[in-house]
Amino acid sequence: MTANRVINGTKWLDTDGRVISAHGGGFLQENGYFYWFGENRHGEKLISCYRSKNLVDWEFCNDVVTMDTHPELNPSNTERPKVIFNDNTGQYIMWLHWENGIHYGEARCAVLVSDTVDGDYTYLRSFRPLGHMSRDCTLFKDEDGTAYFLSAARENADLHVYRLTDDYLDIAALEKILWPGQKREAPALMKRGQYYFLVTSGCTGWEPNQGKYAYATSITGEWSEMFDLGTPTTFDTQPTFIIPIHGTTKTTYLYVGDRWDPSDYHNSTYVFLPLEFPTDTSMRLNWASTVRIEIETGVVEADVRESDLYRLQINMLYLRGEGDQVKASRLSYADKNQLWEVEYTSPVTARIKHHLTGRYLQPKDGSPADESEIVLGDAVDHPMQEWSMVDTGQGYVKLRNCHSGKAMKLVRGSNEPLFQAEMDPRKHGRWDEQAFLLAKVFE
Ligand code: DGJ
Repeated sequence: MTANRVINGTKWLDTDGRVISAHGGGFLQENGYFYWFGENRHGEKLISCYRSKNLVDWEFCNDVVTMDTHPELNPSNTERPKVIFNDNTGQYIMWLHWENGIHYGEARCAVLVSDTVDGDYTYLRSFRPLGHMSRDCTLFKDEDGTAYFLSAARENADLHVYRLTDDYLDIAALEKILWPGQKREAPALMKRGQYYFLVTSGCTGWEPNQGKYAYATSITGEWSEMFDLGTPTTFDTQPTFIIPIHGTTKTTYLYVGDRWDPSDYHNSTYVFLPLEFPTDTSMRLNWASTVRIEIETGVVEADVRESDLYRLQINMLYLRGEGDQVKASRLSYADKNQLWEVEYTSPVTARIKHHLTGRYLQPKDGSPADESEIVLGDAVDHPMQEWSMVDTGQGYVKLRNCHSGKAMKLVRGSNEPLFQAEMDPRKHGRWDEQAFLLAKVFE
């Protein structure tokens, strides 16, 4: 962060110069401050709280939940903490996703309370809401004071909407089961005018996927179908919250996303991106490299630095150049060997260059044979280094070699080479061993 701007996808420092550690975050506005609660996994597992007046300069307040807060927290995994204030009891109520620190099978939520916003929270209990599994979650306090807890249930297959009791400490009722079987995670809820918007991610571990949104005029009423939000990797982020900034000129809704690094949790970063609303029932998320937010007016200035680089994703793995070889590997934002340049030779054909070495994807020795390995070769003016892109849905393409006519294919998993094979003409979208995403790099 610098000169009143957030620089998205970089390490953000607090006012003491320490890295801000507050993933899966929730935000609360009070007394002219934005309070940010999030997962801090540096050393101990903590929930840390920061505050800021301008969303750029963050002052560390307190580790509001530590492993000493309660025996159930040592060990544990605590994720996606969200805090709301109860006007009747005068308490700050935190709900989060609780696991036992060993696996993700407990699938419970936990409730904590405090008399002050950034005080030491008291742990009340962990439980499965009305007996249902509960993982990724969020809290939402509506304008009439009714509060809702949303969480992924039934092994993440369904998204449950629970209404809370008046004290916000328990579940009053299961109001809705959203999109059964569609596996949505990372819910974030907001209201604009007459419409509620619910943003979610797909369910792919720490790897980014297509964000989606839906709208409704009542949280417990009918929700629309889901619409894509941003790119097929949601600009390499997963939603965690939407902050409304009510300014004198306009109200801005700021999408807060985690850019998880699946290879190195501590290399994970954050993004703040202003949402746009082309109509009352649609939202749009654009990339912004830096964002300046005028809290008083609500006016946001976004700046985009275009990148020519891509990552090539297949089955949630990413192509990596290793000498002459090409392997599928786990996404790593630090790994420059995962960066590629796409040189279009026509609207549907391209040469794919490994950014660090300047060498091109091709079948080994230019062989047209089935099961030939895909390797990196020095530039030659030959169709073996050209690939035609065949749409397979959801932003994914099959890459057919212009010389061999065969399609690039991932046969096994991580750290394994790629081969060419007869193209399977069926359109499976993303889950296909021949379907690649040319994922633009957003910095
Ligand atoms: C995706 C969830 O959204 C995250 O909060 C975290 O639980 C990871 N899965 C763990 O794989």
